[in-house]
This record gives sequence, C-alpha cells and structure tokens, in this order.
Amino acid sequence: MHIEKTCGNEDVTILAIESSCDETAAAVVRNGRQVLSNIISSQIDLHTLYGGVVPEIASRKHIERINQVIAEALDTAGLVLKDMDAIAVTYGPGLVGALLVGVSAAKAISFASGIPLIGVHHIEGHISANYIENQELEPPYVCLVVSGGHSHLVRVNDYGEYEILGRTRDDAAGEAFDKVARAIGLGYPGGPKIDKVSKEGNPEAVKFPRAKVADAVYDFSFSGLKSAVLNYLNSCEMKGIEICQADVAASFQKAVVDVLVDHSMQAIQEYGMNKFAIAGGVASNSALRSALETECARRGIRFYHPSPVLCTDNAAMIGAAAYYEYRKGVCHGYDLNAVPNLKLGDR
Ligand code: KG4
Ligand code: ZN
Repeated sequence: MHIEKTCGNEDVTILAIESSCDETAAAVVRNGRQVLSNIISSQIDLHTLYGGVVPEIASRKHIERINQVIAEALDTAGLVLKDMDAIAVTYGPGLVGALLVGVSAAKAISFASGIPLIGVHHIEGHISANYIENQELEPPYVCLVVSGGHSHLVRVNDYGEYEILGRTRDDAAGEAFDKVARAIGLGYPGGPKIDKVSKEGNPEAVKFPRAKVADAVYDFSFSGLKSAVLNYLNSCEMKGIEICQADVAASFQKAVVDVLVDHSMQAIQEYGMNKFAIAGGVASNSALRSALETECARRGIRFYHPSPVLCTDNAAMIGAAAYYEYRKGVCHGYDLNAVPNLKLGDR
C-alpha cells in the first residue's frame, strides 16, 4: 500500500517499535539518521535463568513493558504523538508472540491517531543501524549481518534493495556463540562472555575447522564447528584433561571470525565495492571488528559499524529503516500481521 504523503525537504519524525525477541524497545528518529530517543528494556536477566529465550515469557514481558517504553521514548525526545509522521514496527522475522505485541501496539496507535503505519523487516533494521552514526554512508555497499538468528552476507544496492549473497545453512553465528558458551560453562548470553574471556586465551591453542560450503562460496555453516568444540570437550573429559576455558573460547571465536572475514573480503573483491558494513549482535564482537578493520584498511575499503548498543536489538535502527520506506511512500494497512519467517526483500 502506498500513501500520498511525501516528505520533500521537511523533517520526518518516526516513532519506532521493536519487540521481535527479548528486548522491548521504542525510539524516536528524525530523518532516518538522528536519534532523539532510544529506549531499550532488556529481558536478558529473566531468560538467563533458563539458559536462553523462553518465547512465552518474552511475549508476556513485552505486554507488560510496551506502553511504558513507548511513553518514555516520546518523553525523552520531548515530543508527543501528534509530532510523529509515521509509526514504524518490526513485523518479522522473529518470535511470533513477541512480534505480535509490537505490531498490535503500533496498529492501535496508528488507528487511534491516524498516523501512517510502516512495517519494517528486522534485518533491514540491523543494516540501517549503520546510517545513524555514519551520516555519509549511502548504498551501494556490502553488509555482513550476524545476529542470534541470522548470518547473511548482503549486497545493499539501494535503500531497501538487497541482494543476498550468502546465508547460513544451519546455526546463525550468534547461536553458535551461545551454544559453545553454554558447553564451556559460560552461560547465557554467550557472545559477550566468549568475547570477554577470549582476551585471556590463545586463539591458536585448539585447531577448529573453518567450514566451506562447496556449492555456494558465500554461505556459512557453523554447526560443524560447534560439534568440533563439543567433541574436543568430550575427548578432554574422557582423557581426564582439564580444559582451559579461555583457550577454547578464543580458538572457537577465531574460527568464526576467520570465516566471516574471509567471505566478506571475497564478496567485496568480487563485486568491486569500496564500502563495507557490519550489523547485528555479533557485530559488536571485538575480535571480529578488529580483524575486519585491519583487512579493510589493507584493501583501502571504508569500514562501517554501529556502536554496540545499536548492534544488538533496538528500535532506533527500525526508525532508520522506516524513514527510507516512508520516502518511497510505503505504508501498511491495519491488516499488517507478524510474519515470523519474513524474507529480506519481502513487503
Ligand atoms: O541482533 P541481536 O541482538 O538479536 C537477534 O536479532 O538475534 O543478536 C543477539 C546475538 C546473541 O547470540 C549474542 O550472543 C550475540 O548476538 N552477541 C555477541 C556479542 N554481543 C552479542 N556475539 C559475539 N560477541 C559479542 N560481543
Ligand atoms: Zn536482531
């Protein structure tokens, strides 16, 4: 559905809502790049008790928090609802019950106020987080999206126009971090914990595999690496050898980083790009960032990355993505629904 309202040179202010997993978030974003507020209510402490996200608990907590988080986003921005040009919301992919809370709230606000509704793809949000702190970044560029649920290598041809070069065949990168962290006794959420403990470890201590997918050069596969870590832990246990947590963490992390960097550099070269960006929770990993920094510098490529708070789930990134949809005149009807397996590029 398209709306008549186009923005010309006027400011466009968007209230954005995100509830696809375990953060209840709302933000006010102006012109896609200026964050007036960014409120994130994390449920991580609650899910830590269970070693991972429990969907039913996530939905219930979103319901409890969403109205307050939205009110706080408007308050912090010093604005009221009628100052908004659009209400944006993540409608997929994600946990269906969690997504529904944000989608229902956004539809209700849009219906009551008459302000247009824009449904946003969660991964498009992660990619768009790069526009917030890098005012000069414009497509085309290659983006590596690595989160708890997704690992995609994407060519961003224009705003909202994506070509998926590679995706994971099994576990997402963040999922592998979380599973390995649990296996070596670090607990949930695994990514930040592995990142921290790896600083004390030797990344060359254990040789873990760097998986290649034979028929698709840019696809990823992390389940073999996860199994290799589990096999290593089992064999140490059987031999009565005590593992060094930091060495296993650092060696696992290096194996993930090597594959991500290798695929990214190959894509940049093949497509002749001079700009590269990363996005998603794993994009805040310090080893990944520094390896990409080095490799991009060596090749004269501009490297873009959001700051850690904009890498993990937030609503400011949804507001950034929604702005470019708004400029195209995109607007959703009140039949907008949560789509848990929404594909990038679907409307
Ligand atoms: O993007 P995100 O917040 O949620 C999804 O859309 O999935 O990503 C969460 C994922 C988790 O798997 C978490 O362990 C991982 O990102 N993560 C990290 C780091 N910080 C978060 N992985 C590696 N290193 C980190 N510093
Ligand atoms: Zn995410």
